[in-house]
Amino acid sequence: MESLLSLKGFPAERILELFRIARAMEEILSRPIPVVPALKGKRVAFAFFEPSTRTRSSFELAARSLSLEILNFSPSGSSMTKGEGIQETLTTLKDLGVEGVVIRSPYLGITSWVQRELGIGVINAGEGTGEHPTQALLDLYTLWQRWGEEFQGKRLALVGDIARSRVARSLIYGGRSMGMEIILVGPKTLLPPFPPPHTRVTTNLEEVLPEVDVLYLLRVQKERRASAGPYLPDLQDYFFAYGLTRERLKRMKPGAVYMHPGPVNLGVELDPALYGEHPGNLIHAQVRNGVPIRMAIFYKLFGA
Ligand code: CP
Repeated sequence: MESLLSLKGFPAERILELFRIARAMEEILSRPIPVVPALKGKRVAFAFFEPSTRTRSSFELAARSLSLEILNFSPSGSSMTKGEGIQETLTTLKDLGVEGVVIRSPYLGITSWVQRELGIGVINAGEGTGEHPTQALLDLYTLWQRWGEEFQGKRLALVGDIARSRVARSLIYGGRSMGMEIILVGPKTLLPPFPPPHTRVTTNLEEVLPEVDVLYLLRVQKERRASAGPYLPDLQDYFFAYGLTRERLKRMKPGAVYMHPGPVNLGVELDPALYGEHPGNLIHAQVRNGVPIRMAIFYKLFGA
Protein backbone atom coordinates (compact mmCIF):
# COMPACT_ATOMS: atom_id res chain seq x y z
CA MET A 1 0.00 0.00 0.00
CA GLU A 2 1.22 3.55 -0.77
CA SER A 3 0.99 6.39 1.76
CA LEU A 4 -0.81 9.71 2.13
CA LEU A 5 0.91 11.88 4.73
CA SER A 6 0.61 15.43 3.42
CA LEU A 7 -0.91 17.59 0.70
CA LYS A 8 2.30 19.61 0.33
CA GLY A 9 3.22 19.47 -3.35
CA PHE A 10 0.17 17.30 -4.12
CA PRO A 11 -0.72 18.34 -7.67
CA ALA A 12 -4.20 19.31 -8.87
CA GLU A 13 -4.29 16.36 -11.34
CA ARG A 14 -3.92 13.87 -8.49
CA ILE A 15 -6.60 15.66 -6.48
CA LEU A 16 -8.98 15.63 -9.45
CA GLU A 17 -8.26 11.95 -10.11
CA LEU A 18 -9.31 11.17 -6.52
CA PHE A 19 -12.48 13.22 -7.03
CA ARG A 20 -13.42 11.23 -10.11
CA ILE A 21 -12.88 7.98 -8.22
CA ALA A 22 -14.91 9.33 -5.28
CA ARG A 23 -17.78 10.13 -7.64
CA ALA A 24 -17.75 6.51 -8.83
CA MET A 25 -17.70 5.43 -5.17
CA GLU A 26 -20.85 7.48 -4.56
CA GLU A 27 -22.63 5.30 -7.10
CA ILE A 28 -21.58 2.21 -5.14
CA LEU A 29 -22.78 3.85 -1.91
CA SER A 30 -26.20 4.49 -3.46
CA ARG A 31 -26.81 0.76 -4.06
CA PRO A 32 -29.10 -1.25 -1.74
CA ILE A 33 -26.02 -3.22 -0.63
CA PRO A 34 -23.15 -0.69 -0.82
CA VAL A 35 -20.30 -3.18 -0.85
CA VAL A 36 -17.91 -4.29 -3.60
CA PRO A 37 -15.06 -6.82 -3.35
CA ALA A 38 -12.44 -4.40 -4.75
CA LEU A 39 -9.97 -4.76 -1.86
CA LYS A 40 -11.00 -8.15 -0.52
CA GLY A 41 -8.13 -9.91 1.24
CA LYS A 42 -6.21 -6.68 2.02
CA ARG A 43 -5.75 -5.72 5.66
CA VAL A 44 -5.53 -2.28 7.23
CA ALA A 45 -5.14 -1.25 10.88
CA PHE A 46 -6.87 1.77 12.41
CA ALA A 47 -4.64 3.23 15.12
CA PHE A 48 -6.35 6.20 16.73
CA PHE A 49 -4.39 7.66 19.63
CA GLU A 50 -6.76 10.66 19.82
CA PRO A 51 -10.57 10.77 19.82
CA SER A 52 -12.46 10.96 16.52
CA THR A 53 -16.04 10.58 15.35
CA ARG A 54 -16.14 11.67 11.69
CA THR A 55 -12.74 10.54 10.50
CA ARG A 56 -12.73 7.15 12.17
CA SER A 57 -16.37 6.33 11.31
CA SER A 58 -16.02 7.35 7.67
CA PHE A 59 -12.74 5.46 7.24
CA GLU A 60 -14.46 2.42 8.70
CA LEU A 61 -17.50 2.68 6.40
CA ALA A 62 -15.17 3.29 3.44
CA ALA A 63 -13.08 0.21 4.25
CA ARG A 64 -16.14 -2.01 4.71
CA SER A 65 -17.64 -0.86 1.40
CA LEU A 66 -14.46 -2.00 -0.36
CA SER A 67 -14.31 -5.30 1.61
CA LEU A 68 -11.06 -4.35 3.36
CA GLU A 69 -10.25 -6.32 6.51
CA ILE A 70 -10.00 -3.89 9.45
CA LEU A 71 -7.84 -4.36 12.54
CA ASN A 72 -9.28 -1.84 14.99
CA PHE A 73 -6.81 -0.65 17.61
CA SER A 74 -7.51 1.67 20.54
CA PRO A 75 -4.95 2.61 23.22
CA SER A 76 -7.39 2.00 26.09
CA GLY A 77 -7.57 -1.73 26.65
CA SER A 78 -4.26 -2.26 24.80
CA SER A 79 -0.79 -2.99 26.17
CA MET A 80 -0.11 0.75 26.02
CA THR A 81 -1.86 0.85 29.40
CA LYS A 82 1.03 -1.38 30.58
CA GLY A 83 3.59 1.07 29.25
CA GLU A 84 4.17 -0.14 25.68
CA GLY A 85 5.23 2.80 23.51
CA ILE A 86 3.62 4.00 20.29
CA GLN A 87 6.50 2.82 18.09
CA GLU A 88 6.43 -0.70 19.58
CA THR A 89 2.64 -0.72 19.25
CA LEU A 90 2.76 0.19 15.57
CA THR A 91 5.56 -2.33 14.98
CA THR A 92 3.31 -5.00 16.52
CA LEU A 93 0.46 -4.10 14.15
CA LYS A 94 2.88 -4.48 11.24
CA ASP A 95 4.12 -7.85 12.59
CA LEU A 96 0.49 -9.00 12.67
CA GLY A 97 0.44 -8.62 8.90
CA VAL A 98 -1.40 -5.43 7.99
CA GLU A 99 -0.38 -3.78 4.73
CA GLY A 100 -1.26 -0.30 5.88
CA VAL A 101 -2.27 1.74 8.89
CA VAL A 102 -4.56 4.74 9.34
CA ILE A 103 -3.10 6.86 12.14
CA ARG A 104 -4.48 9.72 14.20
CA SER A 105 -2.15 10.92 16.89
CA PRO A 106 -0.83 13.96 18.72
CA TYR A 107 2.75 12.93 17.87
CA LEU A 108 4.14 15.03 15.05
CA GLY A 109 6.31 12.86 12.79
CA ILE A 110 4.95 9.43 13.72
CA THR A 111 3.36 8.87 10.28
CA SER A 112 6.64 9.50 8.45
CA TRP A 113 8.45 7.29 11.01
CA VAL A 114 6.07 4.40 10.21
CA GLN A 115 6.49 4.87 6.48
CA ARG A 116 10.27 5.05 6.74
CA GLU A 117 11.03 2.47 9.45
CA LEU A 118 8.23 -0.07 9.08
CA GLY A 119 7.83 0.11 5.32
CA ILE A 120 4.04 -0.22 5.33
CA GLY A 121 1.51 2.20 3.88
CA VAL A 122 0.30 5.03 6.10
CA ILE A 123 -2.69 7.32 5.90
CA ASN A 124 -2.45 10.42 8.07
CA ALA A 125 -5.86 10.81 9.73
CA GLY A 126 -4.78 13.90 11.68
CA GLU A 127 -1.36 14.35 13.24
CA GLY A 128 -0.67 16.79 16.07
CA THR A 129 -0.48 20.33 14.72
CA GLY A 130 0.82 18.96 11.40
CA GLU A 131 -1.67 17.94 8.73
CA HIS A 132 -5.06 16.31 8.17
CA PRO A 133 -4.90 15.65 4.42
CA THR A 134 -8.01 13.48 4.05
CA GLN A 135 -10.13 16.21 5.69
CA ALA A 136 -8.82 18.78 3.21
CA LEU A 137 -9.49 16.42 0.30
CA LEU A 138 -13.10 15.88 1.34
CA ASP A 139 -13.49 19.64 1.81
CA LEU A 140 -12.21 20.31 -1.70
CA TYR A 141 -14.37 17.48 -3.04
CA THR A 142 -17.41 19.16 -1.46
CA LEU A 143 -16.53 22.35 -3.35
CA TRP A 144 -15.87 20.39 -6.57
CA GLN A 145 -19.40 18.99 -6.38
CA ARG A 146 -20.65 22.60 -6.35
CA TRP A 147 -18.25 24.27 -8.75
CA GLY A 148 -16.83 21.55 -10.96
CA GLU A 149 -13.24 22.39 -11.87
CA GLU A 150 -13.78 26.17 -11.53
CA PHE A 151 -11.42 26.66 -8.59
CA GLN A 152 -9.01 29.16 -10.14
CA GLY A 153 -9.10 32.49 -8.27
CA LYS A 154 -11.84 31.44 -5.84
CA ARG A 155 -11.26 32.97 -2.40
CA LEU A 156 -11.09 30.74 0.66
CA ALA A 157 -10.95 32.42 4.08
CA LEU A 158 -9.79 30.21 6.94
CA VAL A 159 -11.02 31.66 10.22
CA GLY A 160 -9.67 30.90 13.68
CA ASP A 161 -6.79 28.91 15.08
CA ILE A 162 -4.67 28.76 11.95
CA ALA A 163 -1.39 28.38 13.85
CA ARG A 164 -2.36 25.07 15.47
CA SER A 165 -4.77 23.68 12.90
CA ARG A 166 -3.76 20.59 10.94
CA VAL A 167 -6.89 21.03 8.82
CA ALA A 168 -5.80 24.56 7.90
CA ARG A 169 -2.30 23.44 6.91
CA SER A 170 -3.58 20.72 4.56
CA LEU A 171 -6.28 22.98 3.16
CA ILE A 172 -3.76 25.73 2.41
CA TYR A 173 -1.63 23.23 0.44
CA GLY A 174 -4.60 21.65 -1.33
CA GLY A 175 -6.40 24.93 -2.01
CA ARG A 176 -3.26 26.47 -3.49
CA SER A 177 -2.77 23.42 -5.74
CA MET A 178 -6.29 23.99 -7.03
CA GLY A 179 -5.55 27.67 -7.73
CA MET A 180 -7.50 29.20 -4.85
CA GLU A 181 -6.60 32.45 -3.10
CA ILE A 182 -6.17 31.85 0.62
CA ILE A 183 -6.91 34.40 3.35
CA LEU A 184 -6.03 33.65 6.98
CA VAL A 185 -8.29 35.39 9.51
CA GLY A 186 -8.05 35.40 13.28
CA PRO A 187 -6.77 37.13 16.39
CA LYS A 188 -3.01 37.57 16.47
CA THR A 189 -2.49 34.78 19.03
CA LEU A 190 -4.09 32.26 16.64
CA LEU A 191 -2.35 33.37 13.46
CA PRO A 192 0.93 31.75 12.33
CA PRO A 193 4.00 33.88 13.11
CA PHE A 194 5.37 33.02 9.64
CA PRO A 195 2.39 32.67 7.28
CA PRO A 196 2.80 30.30 4.33
CA PRO A 197 3.73 31.94 1.01
CA HIS A 198 0.92 33.30 -1.16
CA THR A 199 -1.49 33.76 1.74
CA ARG A 200 -3.06 37.01 2.92
CA VAL A 201 -3.37 37.54 6.67
CA THR A 202 -5.80 39.74 8.55
CA THR A 203 -7.31 40.07 12.02
CA ASN A 204 -10.45 41.66 10.57
CA LEU A 205 -13.23 39.24 9.59
CA GLU A 206 -15.61 42.05 8.61
CA GLU A 207 -13.36 43.26 5.78
CA VAL A 208 -13.14 39.86 4.08
CA LEU A 209 -16.79 38.79 4.36
CA PRO A 210 -18.04 40.48 1.16
CA GLU A 211 -15.21 39.10 -1.02
CA VAL A 212 -14.90 35.41 -0.11
CA ASP A 213 -16.43 32.41 -1.87
CA VAL A 214 -15.84 30.09 1.10
CA LEU A 215 -15.76 30.95 4.78
CA TYR A 216 -14.07 27.99 6.48
CA LEU A 217 -14.54 28.12 10.25
CA LEU A 218 -11.90 26.29 12.26
CA ARG A 219 -12.61 24.66 15.58
CA VAL A 220 -11.36 26.46 18.66
CA GLN A 221 -9.17 23.72 20.15
CA LYS A 222 -10.01 24.13 23.81
CA GLU A 223 -8.23 20.87 24.66
CA ARG A 224 -4.90 22.27 23.42
CA ARG A 225 -4.99 25.21 25.83
CA ALA A 226 -2.88 23.29 28.38
CA SER A 227 -0.05 22.58 25.93
CA ALA A 228 -0.21 25.84 24.00
CA GLY A 229 -0.58 28.22 26.93
CA PRO A 230 -3.36 30.75 27.48
CA TYR A 231 -3.48 31.71 23.81
CA LEU A 232 -7.24 31.38 23.50
CA PRO A 233 -9.35 34.48 23.74
CA ASP A 234 -12.45 34.39 25.90
CA LEU A 235 -14.97 32.28 23.97
CA GLN A 236 -17.70 34.93 24.06
CA ASP A 237 -15.24 37.54 22.77
CA TYR A 238 -14.21 35.09 20.05
CA PHE A 239 -17.81 34.63 18.92
CA PHE A 240 -18.32 38.38 18.94
CA ALA A 241 -15.29 38.99 16.70
CA TYR A 242 -15.03 35.79 14.59
CA GLY A 243 -18.22 33.73 14.93
CA LEU A 244 -20.46 33.40 11.88
CA THR A 245 -23.80 34.99 12.69
CA ARG A 246 -26.90 35.61 10.58
CA GLU A 247 -25.90 39.27 10.23
CA ARG A 248 -22.44 38.36 8.97
CA LEU A 249 -23.85 35.76 6.60
CA LYS A 250 -26.03 38.47 5.00
CA ARG A 251 -22.86 40.43 4.23
CA MET A 252 -21.35 37.57 2.25
CA LYS A 253 -21.77 37.55 -1.52
CA PRO A 254 -24.57 35.53 -3.17
CA GLY A 255 -23.58 31.90 -3.60
CA ALA A 256 -20.88 32.03 -0.92
CA VAL A 257 -20.74 29.02 1.38
CA TYR A 258 -19.55 28.23 4.89
CA MET A 259 -17.78 25.11 6.08
CA HIS A 260 -16.40 23.59 9.28
CA PRO A 261 -14.46 20.33 9.76
CA GLY A 262 -16.32 19.53 12.98
CA PRO A 263 -16.92 19.09 15.76
CA VAL A 264 -18.50 22.55 15.84
CA ASN A 265 -18.46 24.57 19.06
CA LEU A 266 -21.93 26.06 18.64
CA GLY A 267 -22.07 29.63 19.90
CA VAL A 268 -18.28 29.96 19.51
CA GLU A 269 -17.45 29.50 15.81
CA LEU A 270 -21.06 29.42 14.56
CA ASP A 271 -24.46 30.75 15.55
CA PRO A 272 -26.47 27.60 16.47
CA ALA A 273 -29.24 28.81 14.10
CA LEU A 274 -26.86 28.36 11.13
CA TYR A 275 -25.98 24.73 11.90
CA GLY A 276 -29.18 23.32 10.34
CA GLU A 277 -30.10 23.14 6.67
CA HIS A 278 -29.27 26.38 4.90
CA PRO A 279 -28.35 27.00 1.24
CA GLY A 280 -24.83 28.13 2.16
CA ASN A 281 -24.16 25.46 4.78
CA LEU A 282 -21.81 22.72 3.54
CA ILE A 283 -21.01 21.27 6.97
CA HIS A 284 -23.30 18.24 6.60
CA ALA A 285 -22.16 17.61 3.01
CA GLN A 286 -18.57 17.60 4.30
CA VAL A 287 -19.43 14.82 6.75
CA ARG A 288 -21.26 12.79 4.07
CA ASN A 289 -18.35 13.17 1.64
CA GLY A 290 -15.93 11.64 4.14
CA VAL A 291 -16.97 8.15 3.01
CA PRO A 292 -16.59 8.35 -0.81
CA ILE A 293 -13.37 10.35 -0.63
CA ARG A 294 -11.82 7.86 1.82
CA MET A 295 -12.98 4.99 -0.38
CA ALA A 296 -11.18 6.69 -3.27
CA ILE A 297 -8.04 7.09 -1.15
CA PHE A 298 -8.03 3.41 -0.12
CA TYR A 299 -8.70 2.34 -3.69
CA LYS A 300 -5.87 4.44 -5.08
CA LEU A 301 -3.30 3.67 -2.35
CA PHE A 302 -3.89 -0.07 -2.51
CA GLY A 303 -3.22 0.13 -6.23
CA ALA A 304 -6.58 -1.35 -7.18
N1 CP B 1 -12.95 16.64 11.26
C1 CP B 1 -12.52 15.67 12.08
O1 CP B 1 -11.35 15.24 12.02
O2 CP B 1 -13.47 15.22 12.97
P1 CP B 1 -13.26 14.05 14.02
O3 CP B 1 -12.28 14.54 15.05
O4 CP B 1 -14.64 13.78 14.61
O5 CP B 1 -12.71 12.87 13.30
